[in-house]
Amino acid sequence: MGSYMILYPTMVRPKILITRRVPDEALKLLAPHFEIEHYNKSTAIPRRLLLSKIRDKEGMLCILTEKVDRRLLQAAPRLKAVSTYSVGFDHIDIAACSEKRIVVTNTPGVLTETTADFTWALLLACARRVVEGDRFMRGGKYKGWDPMMILGSDVHGKTLGVVGLGRIGQAVARRAMGFGMKVLYYDAQMIFPEVERQFGAQYCEFQELLRQSDFITVHVVLDAATHHMIDEKAFALMKRSAYLINAARGPIVDEKALVKALRGQRIRGAALDVYEFEPKMAQGLSQLANVVLAPHLASASLETRAKMGVMAAEGLVDVLARRKTPAHAANPEVCEEIFSRA
Ligand code: GLV
Repeated sequence: MGSYMILYPTMVRPKILITRRVPDEALKLLAPHFEIEHYNKSTAIPRRLLLSKIRDKEGMLCILTEKVDRRLLQAAPRLKAVSTYSVGFDHIDIAACSEKRIVVTNTPGVLTETTADFTWALLLACARRVVEGDRFMRGGKYKGWDPMMILGSDVHGKTLGVVGLGRIGQAVARRAMGFGMKVLYYDAQMIFPEVERQFGAQYCEFQELLRQSDFITVHVVLDAATHHMIDEKAFALMKRSAYLINAARGPIVDEKALVKALRGQRIRGAALDVYEFEPKMAQGLSQLANVVLAPHLASASLETRAKMGVMAAEGLVDVLARRKTPAHAANPEVCEEIFSRA
């Protein structure tokens, strides 16, 4: 074991691996129940090390940079629970986990409002060119007020198109009421009459939403159906004055097509928190002035990250120590099977 691995000694208790530094709140909760091996670093655990460390573990608290795939599961014969410190679980092969009766838990709900706040930070930043203004000031370029300097687009009174009206999409839509916006939404799963009544949101076919919206914000999960949902054809349907905001998952947007659309002013701007090949960016993206770029920060508030830590820890404690169904599982049918037998 290298010096970066911290071992928290206990009696004979289930062994778990924590793959990244996490808030203390999570560690405090886990410590009484488990023998913990902790890769307590700010960079991803190397895959080979992960595969060797997982061998004797019953539980794993991971983050979204760790691929939990069949290869990892093969290397983890004792694994019973995977808790991801994230709401999204597209990095985990859920079917493979279910086949092996491994429960997967995640952290939905606690980050909804924080993520919606940040989506608005991105939207406002690109519409009103906040980052360009900041660079201008720091670059010593401001020589006094100018009526034609760094003109952005109004937000109030415009049309917001929400793609995916789940928890986060709804929280984003609710905030639009304060800006007096018209809200359109597209959701492949269902329509939401209650949300329509509350926020005056209107259901709209996807292509129509692209045509009509001034701001398009993406809140779908990443799966085969949503991969490159925003592609060159989608950009061609958007208004030339439109802005795209993505705080969901990078591969939902064809990033090369986005660079082309921004470069050719096919749309006016974009703001991204996630990237197709994260942490890399498509060539040319970082040279463009009409895009705001953030390093996957949407849930990154002190309060929310602590709550995510508690929830992620609770998932492992519930499954491995309390032997009960956790509050949130990505494969509840596995919990049902395991815990109804208990
Ligand atoms: C962050 O992207 C998450 O899924 O929690």
